[in-house]
Amino acid sequence: MRVLGIETSCDETGVAVYDSASGLLGHVVYSQIPLHADFGGVVPELASRDHVRKLAPMIRELLQGLDLTADGIDGIAYTAGPGLAGALLVGAAFARSLAWAWKVPAVGIHHMEGHLLAPMLENEVPQFPFVALLVSGGHTQLVAVGAVGDYELLGESLDDAAGEAFDKTAKLLGLGYPGGPALAALAQSGDPGRFLFPRPMTDRPGLDFSFSGLKTFALTTLRQESSRTPPDQIGRLHADIARAFEDAVVETLAIKCRRAVEQTGSRALVMAGGVSANRRLRTRVDQLMADLGGRAYYPRAELCTDNGAMIAYAGWQRLRTGQHEELAFGIRPRWPMLELAAHA
Ligand code: KG4
Ligand code: ZN
Repeated sequence: MRVLGIETSCDETGVAVYDSASGLLGHVVYSQIPLHADFGGVVPELASRDHVRKLAPMIRELLQGLDLTADGIDGIAYTAGPGLAGALLVGAAFARSLAWAWKVPAVGIHHMEGHLLAPMLENEVPQFPFVALLVSGGHTQLVAVGAVGDYELLGESLDDAAGEAFDKTAKLLGLGYPGGPALAALAQSGDPGRFLFPRPMTDRPGLDFSFSGLKTFALTTLRQESSRTPPDQIGRLHADIARAFEDAVVETLAIKCRRAVEQTGSRALVMAGGVSANRRLRTRVDQLMADLGGRAYYPRAELCTDNGAMIAYAGWQRLRTGQHEELAFGIRPRWPMLELAAHA
């Protein structure tokens, strides 16, 4: 079965074709970052309009490049939520219309399930059950995964998601949007020994997270230190703060992952979502799982951030069991993942 995947939940237009026999045939992501950069964040209405502009030509080019026509597509998967309502509607309306015209089934996919299953697109895949750490711009969750659709929430962020904390702290340091990758790059030259940021909520039991205090800690440190730092040392100060912040997030995530893995007895930890592209986090989680006698799995960096490939794959997992949508459709800007149906 060949599935066309369409992702439009936020500021990336992603399209892909997944083939159940031969894997990911191709995927293209168009980032709207330059469009929103001047505004310091995503402008929902601009995002929707840009998805409208890009979707048709991107799908046409993707299929042409793969030497495929409509006849070669057996089903269409699109992100139905969570995300920006207008952006989701563009993808949903497009996907459902295309499916109707091509006479193939369509299925609406949960964006976070897409992220969660993205490591399955790699050569070495984790076996169920496993623990998943989902770290994106909007979510930080630890999930016990029994099978596709069998998800138990072990813990989640009580305030800012990890990616959101990266983005907000990056903004404080004068870095552009989205700040995560820029902050990580700046942290490379930072001194890990200069500042020690707290590891929030690690001194008590439980698997929930809270990252908003770290951003405030960064702001306080920045204000205190800036006043006594000569202008030629400000760049170094910013890099040292970036490093301390990154270390704190990485270490906090690692501490909670260890707990989740020990609590569930799992041998595998899957990590996905935009923040899982972070190199220091990957290295730390690899080390942690090696210490615990298990293994960490995460997708290649380009499949960590939003893309159509993960939606095509999750779509295949749903379509192959017969799941698909009726002609009427809706979207879900807010959508708890625990409401998904488990595989029989
Ligand atoms: O999964 P994603 O592409 O979109 C959402 O579903 O939210 O995640 C985007 C988030 C942003 O907050 C971005 O700053 C963060 O992932 N991110 C990173 C890195 N690459 C992306 N954060 C830290 N280090 C990175 N290398
Ligand atoms: Zn995402």
